[in-house]
Amino acid sequence: MEDHQPQSVRVERRPVSEQESRQANGPDWDRYADEYQATHGAFLGDAGFVWGPEGHTEDDLGVLGDVAGLDVLELGSGAGQCSRWVRTHGGRGFGLDLSHRQLQHSLRLDGETGVVVPSVRGTATDLPFAAASFDVVFCSFGALQFISEIAQAVGEVARVLRPGGRFAFSVTHPTRWMFPDDPGVPGLTATQSYWDRTPYVEIDDATGVVSYVEHHRTLGDWVRLLAGHGFALTDLVEPEWPEDHDRVWGGWSRTRGLLTPGTAIFVAHLTA
Ligand SMILES: C[S@@+](CC[C@H](N)C(=O)[O-])C[C@H]1O[C@@H](n2cnc3c(N)ncnc32)[C@H](O)[C@@H]1O
Repeated sequence: MEDHQPQSVRVERRPVSEQESRQANGPDWDRYADEYQATHGAFLGDAGFVWGPEGHTEDDLGVLGDVAGLDVLELGSGAGQCSRWVRTHGGRGFGLDLSHRQLQHSLRLDGETGVVVPSVRGTATDLPFAAASFDVVFCSFGALQFISEIAQAVGEVARVLRPGGRFAFSVTHPTRWMFPDDPGVPGLTATQSYWDRTPYVEIDDATGVVSYVEHHRTLGDWVRLLAGHGFALTDLVEPEWPEDHDRVWGGWSRTRGLLTPGTAIFVAHLTA
């Protein structure tokens, strides 16, 4: 779970609809964007491509392959760091994000770096693009785990990809949902069922309104979702915690990272 909680909230596991998820997460990311970019911006790099808190980059992993000359869409693009990396490697990178404030940071970095990522405000469940517009769609901890109607989002990716197109995304490793979201030793003891898909929900103490949501899918859920939308899974990357890495990001830490995977990167191709 993200390390934000900007207002006083209580945490629950309870069902939430897509509309509730979006109504909570858009404003939440607007509130949190300045702190997120101030805290993590240097680690991400203005034109860097980091796949997760372990710090593995696209340069290290090569998950997308050669992007030169390709049309590439990033879901949950935030300040557009990854798409800016795509642009500096010859690809035509485009961003989409739910949060207006995150996109303002993207514009700021466009100006500061001189590498412009054309971006649109929208939701990954309803992509404002024609069918077969992109060669690659990717997502680095953006959008997918914040969505309730995940089948709709994966269907949208399949629709906007060209035949044979690549879909790669990182999410919190599904096994992490068994553990308390604690970077310390308490985060090493399984306390909840891996198979409990009930969403993680924060509720604003003052208003009683849902203010933040994350959704859990098991490894098998992801495989079925991809296969059900015409994708062939070609890799599942589980980045190991680097020996010399000692940065805490929310529930991610060296203490946990040396023992349990924190990030899963799914790589799939559209078969038709
Ligand atoms: C953890 S940030 C990751 C941003 C960027 N990929 C990075 O590495 O910094 C998650 C992003 O997903 C966006 N997001 C959440 N729900 C979304 C949705 N339904 N559609 C598109 N973006 C969404 C948030 O606004 C936020 O910018």
